Amino acid sequence: MDGLRVLARPEAEVPRRLKLQVAELQNHAWPGEISAEPVHDPALRPLSLLLLDGDRVLAALDVLSKPIVHAGRTYAASGLSTVVVDPALRGRGHGRRLVAAARAAVADGGADLGLFTCDRGLRGFYENAGWEPLPGAVLVGGTVEQPFPSDQEGFDKVVMAAFLTAHARRHRSDFPGSRIALHPGTVDRLW
Ligand SMILES: CC(C)(COP(=O)(O)OP(=O)(O)OC[C@H]1O[C@@H](n2cnc3c(N)ncnc32)[C@H](O)[C@@H]1OP(=O)(O)O)[C@@H](O)C(=O)NCCC(=O)NCCS
Repeated sequence: MDGLRVLARPEAEVPRRLKLQVAELQNHAWPGEISAEPVHDPALRPLSLLLLDGDRVLAALDVLSKPIVHAGRTYAASGLSTVVVDPALRGRGHGRRLVAAARAAVADGGADLGLFTCDRGLRGFYENAGWEPLPGAVLVGGTVEQPFPSDQEGFDKVVMAAFLTAHARRHRSDFPGSRIALHPGTVDRLW
């Protein structure tokens, strides 16, 4: 037992003293993009997961969720967003611990599928935490009218997934090498 715990709360219900620390970590990783107010589209039911040592935030991420239709079938999908570890505390397994906890939270939340993109160099990091790569797959973010695909010029992204229900596992061969219409909207364009 190391005394660390994972707190899961809807983004809008994260206590302000913790949310401010999360904003600081996010601002460090993505300067100027993040405020202390909720940043995600409430329609995606953002769930924040924080790795805490007492009242200190060591790492944070958000889980976003929506239904998707792929190859004619509907799935409840959830993905990871804004994964960040305190820069002073990287390389100690905190990221892996939180990202593994998020996979469990996504499964407990009833999602058929976990789905998100990451930079190619982080594939091993997510694999270490139980996520699997979907070779050749592309996530199409944005909206139908304004798509924001993960294979656009200048991006080098891979799609990571988890097949969590019998429904998803039965049809898993529909996913590798495919374009997956995620369309989370204009706020979290590729969640
Ligand atoms: C990416 C990040 C979350 C990793 O957190 P962390 O706590 O340092 O990672 P961990 O210590 O849990 O590492 C787990 C494993 O992933 C590997 N890993 C960690 N960061 C990595 C990176 N940037 N590239 C490749 N592998 C990485 C580690 O080597 C470790 O593997 P090992 O156990 O075989 O040694 C952290 O570096 C970070 O906050 N980066 C800035 C924000 C960011 O890029 N977020 C990801 C957005 S998709």
